[in-house]
Amino acid sequence: MKVFSFCLYLVYALWASHDAVAALSTDCQLRETKHGSVCVCNSSHCDYLEQPALNDSNQLVVISSSKNGLRYKRTDGSFLQRSILEVQDRQFIDENFVADTIVVEDNRAWLQFSKIPQQFVLNARFRTMQLTVKREQRYQKITNFGGAFTGSVSHILQQLPTELQDHVYRSYFHEEGIAYNSIRMSIGGSDFDLQPWAYNEQPRNDPKLSNFTTLDPRDLQKIEQLERLKSVAELKELQIMAAAWSAPTWMKSNERWTGFGQLKPEYYQAWAQYHLRFLELMQSKNMPVWAISTGNEPLNGVIGFFFVHFMSMGWTPWQQAIWLSDHLGPTIRNSSQRHVLIFGNDDQRYTYPSWFRKMRASRSNALDYLDGLAVHWYWDEIFGPQLIDEAHAEMPNKLMLNTESCIGDKPWQTHGPELGSWGRGESYMRAYMQDLQHNINGWLDWNLVLDEKGGPNYIHNYVDSPVIVNTTNRAEFYKQPIYYAIGHFSKFVPAQSVRIETQTNETDAFAQLNVVGFQRPDNSIALILYNGENLPVDVALDDSQRGKFKLRLPARSWHTVIYK
Ligand SMILES: *[C@@H]1O[C@H](CO)[C@@H](O)[C@H](O)[C@H]1NC(C)=O
Ligand SMILES: *[C@@H]1O[C@H](CO)[C@@H](O)[C@H](O)[C@H]1NC(C)=O
Ligand SMILES: *[C@@H]1O[C@H](CO)[C@@H](O)[C@H](O)[C@H]1NC(C)=O
Ligand SMILES: *[C@@H]1O[C@H](CO)[C@@H](O)[C@H](O)[C@H]1NC(C)=O
Ligand SMILES: *[C@@H]1O[C@H](CO)[C@@H](O)[C@H](O)[C@H]1NC(C)=O
Ligand SMILES: *[C@@H]1O[C@H](CO)[C@@H](O)[C@H](O)[C@H]1NC(C)=O
Repeated sequence: MKVFSFCLYLVYALWASHDAVAALSTDCQLRETKHGSVCVCNSSHCDYLEQPALNDSNQLVVISSSKNGLRYKRTDGSFLQRSILEVQDRQFIDENFVADTIVVEDNRAWLQFSKIPQQFVLNARFRTMQLTVKREQRYQKITNFGGAFTGSVSHILQQLPTELQDHVYRSYFHEEGIAYNSIRMSIGGSDFDLQPWAYNEQPRNDPKLSNFTTLDPRDLQKIEQLERLKSVAELKELQIMAAAWSAPTWMKSNERWTGFGQLKPEYYQAWAQYHLRFLELMQSKNMPVWAISTGNEPLNGVIGFFFVHFMSMGWTPWQQAIWLSDHLGPTIRNSSQRHVLIFGNDDQRYTYPSWFRKMRASRSNALDYLDGLAVHWYWDEIFGPQLIDEAHAEMPNKLMLNTESCIGDKPWQTHGPELGSWGRGESYMRAYMQDLQHNINGWLDWNLVLDEKGGPNYIHNYVDSPVIVNTTNRAEFYKQPIYYAIGHFSKFVPAQSVRIETQTNETDAFAQLNVVGFQRPDNSIALILYNGENLPVDVALDDSQRGKFKLRLPARSWHTVIYK
């Protein structure tokens, strides 16, 4: 009897300990907000999802988010099942207004209006999208996903209790968060800082950079935070991409932080040395830099100065080619930092590919120093992806990264967070899909966190962020739909994944249905699906190696489908 109960205990203990491991996933604390809903994190609670492990070649896992409030909900299926796998949406009930619901019966959807006596007013037949996955047809490799660790981000995090900071780090960089592996940071200041700044502001006219012998205290705070980030997120390697917004004012033609101003030619070599010094100092702090760019948004200081009031420095492509080929390129390549990748442009898509053609016209070898092309997303809804296709066709061996994105900068947008906005999440979802379908290797979003206003920002250039911190109580932060949109890619498409061919029978260019697929380093498949329609949609999946599967996606939802 005793032996028997001991055995029972053992079985129980094994089961319980297994349970403890599985309990790494925690649910989102959903809170309704003005524009939708957010997940609330405090020091003792934050939502995480364990990476789904596949142990069977017929197994299929769907991770879903929806406007109604699903956030990384897991649904399991099998290629052996005949019936359609339906992702169950959350019932959305508002106390003031019982929202219209979609009733699903058989293969039909009904719109139900609570305030109208007639129960069913509309009856719509589901659409079916045919989706063919051809893993033999392979495209670009993924390098990195991440966000920017600006001065504003560092400043906000420093005010939070350690447990809450740790939840920010884990939410972004841990496997159970959204598994970022990269950050972007400024060399000196950026617009998301408390003031403009650079190294060696004093003494002026000092090309030897005699006073740039240590990093700034603001960098040291960031480095301390990044060390903590790497440790709590269990991140072995953090790919840091760095870019300068402006040189110290004495190096510039207008001797100001902003406005129409370029680098004085007599300081071209000093500006290259300035970059090298930064890389060496970062390395000396055990925080080596993975890549730099030739400078953030060079057109701001040439044509953009009418409306850009933050620190920036202008370059024409002709000038920049000279600086790169005669100064920056040789200086970096003939140094202990020769392994650091150099990315060109770091500006809007509408400068592609002409910026590089002009560089080549100015110095035929300038582009040889570039390992990659960096592009910002801000005007992508106006300037189509054919521009990056052309750049890729001309320079197929260069990496392409999207290095900045946020919403709220346009005159017609709210200049700051829209807490809970699903629409803003959908903008991200569509943008990531489009870039990834056009050979982009990775994406670095803008500020990792911002405050309730969308700052701090010293020129009041407030915008949105995937995570908004409550800087009033310093006890909570809010994960916006944007955070989950990005995570549908970054969490499930690790570095070294390869994009594969996915074809649908959607012919309507404006259809709110889209898909992009990857084969991961462990050979499993991750498909990201977007349903922007106000109705559920059926997907008839046909994988050239695995077989067929039917899936029903709820209205206004995103999914990552994983199988072997
Ligand atoms: C944190 O959130 C959880 C879940 O909503 C709640 O139970 C807990 O009381 C909160 N903790 C604090 C300190 O507010
Ligand atoms: C996968 O393995 C886990 C235990 O490790 C088991 O609980 C689960 O049923 C398995 N799934 C399938 C589809 O075989
Ligand atoms: C060096 O820079 C610091 C500020 O970073 C400044 O206080 C100091 O005066 C500078 N030294 C010289 C010699 O200009
Ligand atoms: C490379 O650096 C070494 C010293 O570190 C120097 O002697 C050499 O001239 C440099 N070569 C070029 C091409 O700049
Ligand atoms: C931040 O916390 C304060 C105090 O708890 C609360 O009144 C406020 O509504 C919160 N802000 C947001 C954006 O939820
Ligand atoms: C795609 O295929 C499905 C199923 O074969 C069909 O019902 C649907 O009408 C097709 N869509 C288009 C746009 O042709």
